[in-house]
Amino acid sequence: MAEYDYDVLVIGAGPGGYVAAIRAAQLGLKTACAESRETLGGTCLNVGCIPSKALLHASELFEEASHGAFAKFGIEVEGAKLNLEQMHAEKKKAVGELTGGIEYLFKKNKVTWLKGKASFTDASTVTVGEQTVTARDIVIATGSSVTPLPGVEIDQKVVVDSTGALALPKVPEHLVVIGGGVIGLELGSVWRRLGAKVTVVEYLDQILPGFDGEVRKESAKLFKKQGFELKTGTKVTGVTVEGETATVSLEPANGGAAETLTADAVLVAIGRKPNTDGLNLEAAGVKLNNRGQVEIDHDFATNVDGVWAIGDVAPGLMLAHKAEDEGVAVAENIAGQTGIVNHDVIPSVVYTMPEIAGVGLSEEAAKEKGEVKVGKFPFMANSRAKTNRDTDGFVKVIADAKTDRVLGVWIVSSLAGTMIAQAAQAMEFGATSEDIAYTCHAHPTHSEALKEAAMAVRGKPIHV
Ligand code: FAD
Ligand code: NAI
Repeated sequence: MAEYDYDVLVIGAGPGGYVAAIRAAQLGLKTACAESRETLGGTCLNVGCIPSKALLHASELFEEASHGAFAKFGIEVEGAKLNLEQMHAEKKKAVGELTGGIEYLFKKNKVTWLKGKASFTDASTVTVGEQTVTARDIVIATGSSVTPLPGVEIDQKVVVDSTGALALPKVPEHLVVIGGGVIGLELGSVWRRLGAKVTVVEYLDQILPGFDGEVRKESAKLFKKQGFELKTGTKVTGVTVEGETATVSLEPANGGAAETLTADAVLVAIGRKPNTDGLNLEAAGVKLNNRGQVEIDHDFATNVDGVWAIGDVAPGLMLAHKAEDEGVAVAENIAGQTGIVNHDVIPSVVYTMPEIAGVGLSEEAAKEKGEVKVGKFPFMANSRAKTNRDTDGFVKVIADAKTDRVLGVWIVSSLAGTMIAQAAQAMEFGATSEDIAYTCHAHPTHSEALKEAAMAVRGKPIHV
């Protein structure tokens, strides 16, 4: 029988990889994780979820303090000033604490961190920097990186990607965001709140592809109210930079008169692509699909025995919690257990203000599958939201017309990201809208809006 250095080698220590490594070690497997960054935690902890949420939180506080939002509550704040350096320092501290936390968890669970870039020699042999190691099972969890826009060079000074936009040393006067997706709206919100004029250029007719149609429309309305300029149905044909000024050339997506925008910062946020370059997957014989993702089956197994893939490098939503759940499942499958992820019930959250969240099918997608009933409830009629002067948004519940089973839930609200967990749990348990409507919800909470939207599916909410 072949002897291996490790039972399991995970490549990449993002939310997918570090979770897979810890779970494998917890299950008694001798585990190593290769990571080429200086710190663990992948995109999410280093240059994604965590620093973006740190800046979203801080910039929201700044906007509230500096724009008189507290005054109506009898709190008068005078002379609120931005200290951007301190804002970045606090963000860095949060990132350091969390990435350090993963290092601690690796030590606690006896996961060996192999520092360096990993590349396959064959299906069970990998070089990591100078070392060569063998493992019985190998999990590819190399994540994703920014999709470049042909002809637009990212210099991380004037033209930045999300990593550059998380570290701008001064507030731009005019930030042009290319791509009205999650990154564009979150990071656009950060810099708008700190004082930038923000123009979002989106190729499609609406922002936030993949979200429910009504939610996309409502979100666009709210972003415009906040001062965003949204140029939908518009494509960027080029960006030129001279000194500290960029000229962005635009055209209507369906053809028409061209125009230019002048900006001192341009954020390219048109999606992300799987990281497979340099892995030498050919040496292992691992197949990619036509989108460049590692092809896997329901158990996260690739076409090669003993090689698995999870997270952004594999098909599905590019989200940290999806990667984490796959990390647990793949480790359990490697250990001979049954690890499953229900990809129909993965919540998505945009952490703007209000937050925008959804789980399951949009109304449009649900209608393609059959007859549906829809219930909606506005936060304008929710007592807690009204009390907090926080009435933007609504909850929408989409249920199967025959069985009443909940197929999708969409929430626009300051607390949407937290509230959506309840909807996901209900759907995971196969709930009907009636199950949610007859569950007692604490009063006064924003969550009551979910209960009332579920009541509205059958036409009978109390408060509208
Ligand atoms: P990654 O986190 O990308 O980790 C992969 C790791 O593998 C990296 O550290 C990389 O250095 C390493 N690696 C790659 N190749 C090799 C190699 N050959 N050898 C060794 N190491 C290698 N998702 C959310 O759910 N919520 C959010 O709020 C959120 N915010 C985001 C904000 C931004 C700005 C961005 C860019 C992304 C955000 N995401 C968010 C997405 C989230 O970061 C990803 O879905 C998640 O990080 C994917 O995890 P992963 O483990 O698959 O890959
Ligand atoms: P995205 O896929 O969310 O949005 C990209 C947008 O760019 C789309 O609306 C697309 O139509 C548009 N686009 C594409 N090409 C274009 C062009 N040439 N000109 C103008 N518009 C163009 O991708 P984004 O925002 O880059 O984020 C990448 C991924 O990172 C997301 O899909 C998400 O999975 C993850 N992420 C998640 C977050 C969260 O969960 N809160 C936060 C940030 C990122």
